[in-house]
Amino acid sequence: MKTVMVASTKGGTAKTTTALALAAAWAAAHERRIAVWDGDPQGTLTRQLRHAVIRDPWAAAPVALEIPRIAGRVELFRGGRALGLAALPEIERFFRRPDWAGRGGTDLGVIDTPPGGLLHIVAAAGTADLLLVPVDTTPLGLEGLIETMDLLRAIDPPLPTRVLLTRVVARRGITREITEYLDRRHPGIRLPVGIPEDARVPESHKERRPVTLGVQSRAADAYHEVARHLLPVIAGLRRMPHGVDTAAVAGSGR
Ligand SMILES: Nc1ncnc2c1ncn2[C@@H]1O[C@H](COP(=O)(O)OP(=O)(O)O)[C@@H](O)[C@H]1O
Ligand SMILES: [Mg+2]
Repeated sequence: MKTVMVASTKGGTAKTTTALALAAAWAAAHERRIAVWDGDPQGTLTRQLRHAVIRDPWAAAPVALEIPRIAGRVELFRGGRALGLAALPEIERFFRRPDWAGRGGTDLGVIDTPPGGLLHIVAAAGTADLLLVPVDTTPLGLEGLIETMDLLRAIDPPLPTRVLLTRVVARRGITREITEYLDRRHPGIRLPVGIPEDARVPESHKERRPVTLGVQSRAADAYHEVARHLLPVIAGLRRMPHGVDTAAVAGSGR
């Protein structure tokens, strides 16, 4: 099983939306069997799917999602507040439950992480095959991107990373600024498709289903395209042991 961790140091970048949209797209359109981890102590993703957050995320069995088109193909490891008090080894243990027998029958793992998920980005070194960083196309989004990329320098060898622009409004100058920054400083990691600003996204939260399983929309189409694009990328990844320079984590920033 390969694992994609969706993370950024900034909140509100569409991490939860993206984790859910891609997991559902891979399950529905590509018939992959997916395990989703809600690594957010607030349990946003868990609640969005009409499940209750749990006291002991390490012990609770995963639940099968009963959503039409993906039923039987997606399992959810629910989140809970205890994750917010956990240290790095416990966070890693949540993502790699040794008791979970289903792992062998699962094609892909998708991990959602909390805002300010510094620990989760470090945990990615031990857990994830690919780090997906959503960036909301706002001035603060650019700040968050720079901080996240700075933090990633502490992981050696570099962790395979892709950046997804979200809430894109093409005519906004900041969209061009972020695109130019990425292509200059980190060539090759920006995904060729961005997710447009689209009222269907908040509406899908209200309907409590992934945007990729609702009515057709520009955001859903874009997420489906990203899901298609990422599958061969993920298949081509070979897992290496990644070390983390904790002094660099502590010392990074401006
Ligand atoms: N493409 C989009 N268009 C419009 N609103 C969006 C889009 N993506 C996310 N949002 C909204 O932005 C907010 C934050 O999204 P969320 O996925 O919860 O971010 P995070 O998990 O990074 O905190 C939510 O209210 C969500 O509905
Ligand atoms: Mg979230």
